[in-house]
Order: sequence, then structure tokens, then C-alpha cells
Amino acid sequence: MDFKAGHLLGLEYVDAEDIGLILNTTKSFREILERPIKKVPTLQGMTVVNLFFEPSTRTRISFELAEKRLSADAVNFSSSTSSVKKGETLLDTARNIEAMKIDMVVIRHSSPGAPMFLSRMLDAHIINAGDGAHEHPTQALLDMRTILDHHATLDGLTVGIIGDIAHSRVALSNIHGLKKMGARVIICGPSTLIPVEIEKLGVEVNYNIDEVIPQVDVLNILRIQLERQDSGLFPSLREYHNYFGITRERLEKATKPITIMHPGPINRGVEISSDVADSEHSVILSQVTNGVAVRMAVLYLLAGGSENVSD
Ligand code: CP
Repeated sequence: MDFKAGHLLGLEYVDAEDIGLILNTTKSFREILERPIKKVPTLQGMTVVNLFFEPSTRTRISFELAEKRLSADAVNFSSSTSSVKKGETLLDTARNIEAMKIDMVVIRHSSPGAPMFLSRMLDAHIINAGDGAHEHPTQALLDMRTILDHHATLDGLTVGIIGDIAHSRVALSNIHGLKKMGARVIICGPSTLIPVEIEKLGVEVNYNIDEVIPQVDVLNILRIQLERQDSGLFPSLREYHNYFGITRERLEKATKPITIMHPGPINRGVEISSDVADSEHSVILSQVTNGVAVRMAVLYLLAGGSENVSD
């Protein structure tokens, strides 16, 4: 199951050629978003349902904006105000929505594999907006697009990913995408938050952030999920900050400027200090801006569009 099959389920299933196609097409949509009138008729007549079973700010809003700027009809579903509360299953929910003649489903769900399940059961195009600790492919695509705004190529670049790798769909999608595009990836965090045998994905592991910083061009800093602070996986948020928090003092050990990224939401003073998050090297808000253009590119290409965007 891959991008060419009409779904975006994870970057594990997308080849380097298609990742390059999405990243290039994103540039065309970014130009459209810089115009005074940001709307094009590209997906007029298509209906996209945003099926969110988990909270989201960035992903849900940027998918909705992307759909509206492509002139698609966008419908938002939130499990907390739906018949899921009455016990309706995911499959019944999705089949009922499909019966209303929709074309695409964007889904965020706590269960890994939920988007793949829907892709097998429905005729609609399925886009994974985050499935449990599995993948978050559009996040990794917007991360790669943002890196390319600051570095000529991903090939040969060294990217550090730091934090709770074991529970992070952002990390897994970034690893698949970056490795396919030729980057060197170093994983860093407490050993309790790094999956065993992750090296099999072609990444290096280093448990000491002060050894990682001098090696990287880019640091992608993951959110420490506050709900895990009582799990025993690390002693305390203060200790996490002391050992792994990215601060100006730590970054001064870098041999070159490092591009600082974070998928959001940020825990200021835990995984990243406020002055780093707001520093001249931070591209965190550019990631959010690129999120709309990346999602426009994905919707457009899944609907059958070609690299040469015309409006
Ligand atoms: N980065 C990200 O997925 O953010 P949201 O959970 O707010 O969508």
C-alpha cells in the first residue's frame, strides 16, 4: 500500500521519488499561499472529512485550511461530539460517512493501523493524520520541507531527533522519510524512551545530548508527553530538562548553527528552553506554515494532480 495506490498511510510505504514529488509540489502551493487571494479551484466538487478521534490544533486546522484553499468541501468530525459516544465503532462511523458520498478521509486515531484498516474497507482516499505511536506522515513531510528551506539537500545532512522516541509517531515518520532521502539520523533520549533495536531502521543511537549537538545540522526536539511523568520512564521533568533539555548553554557547544525544530505542542522549560524556542535558529513557526502547503500538496496529488500545478 503506497502513495501511488491513492492513500497516505505512512512514509514507510512511500518511496523517495514520491517524497520528492510531494516536497516539490509543496513549493508551488506555498507560492499560492503568499498571494493576496489564497484560494484555487483545484478540488472544487470534492468532499473531505476530517475524522479526529484525538485532540489536535496544528494538524486539524491546517488540513481544514488546506482543503478550503483548494476549494474542497471540508467537514469536521470530532469523536467527543459524535455517536462514538453512544458506542458506534470506527468502521460503522466511517461507512456511514462514506455513504454520504465523500471523496477523502483524514483520520487521527489512537490505534496504530486505523488508517490502513479504513483504506481496506472504504473506497475513499485515506490520509493518516497520526495513528497512535505509529506514524504522522504529513508532520515528517512538513519537517523535511522546512529543513530544505535552510539546507540545500537532505542527502548527507545529519539530523538529531531527541526525546520520547518510543511513543512518538513523529519520530518514526521522520526516520522513514529522512533515511529514504539520504540523511544521517541520530536518535537521542533516555534509554527507557528509545526502542530496542531501533538501529535496524538505519539510525544511530547516542544517549548523551552533549555528544550529539556537535555532530548535527538539525535538531528535531520532541514533546515530552506530560502524561508519562508518573510512568517511571524518567525520574522527573526537572531531571529530564537537566539531562536532555535544549538550552542556549548547550547549543553554545555546537560547531555550526543548528536548525531547531519542534512539532509542537511545546513544553517550555522541559524539552526546550523558551529562549531557544524563540531564537533566531528556531524554525518552529515555519514548520506550521509549511504544514498547510504540504497538506495542500498531498490532497492535490492524491486527487490525481501532477507536479506542474496550474490554477
Ligand atoms: N504536531 C502536531 O501533530 O500537532 P497537533 O497535535 O496540534 O496536531
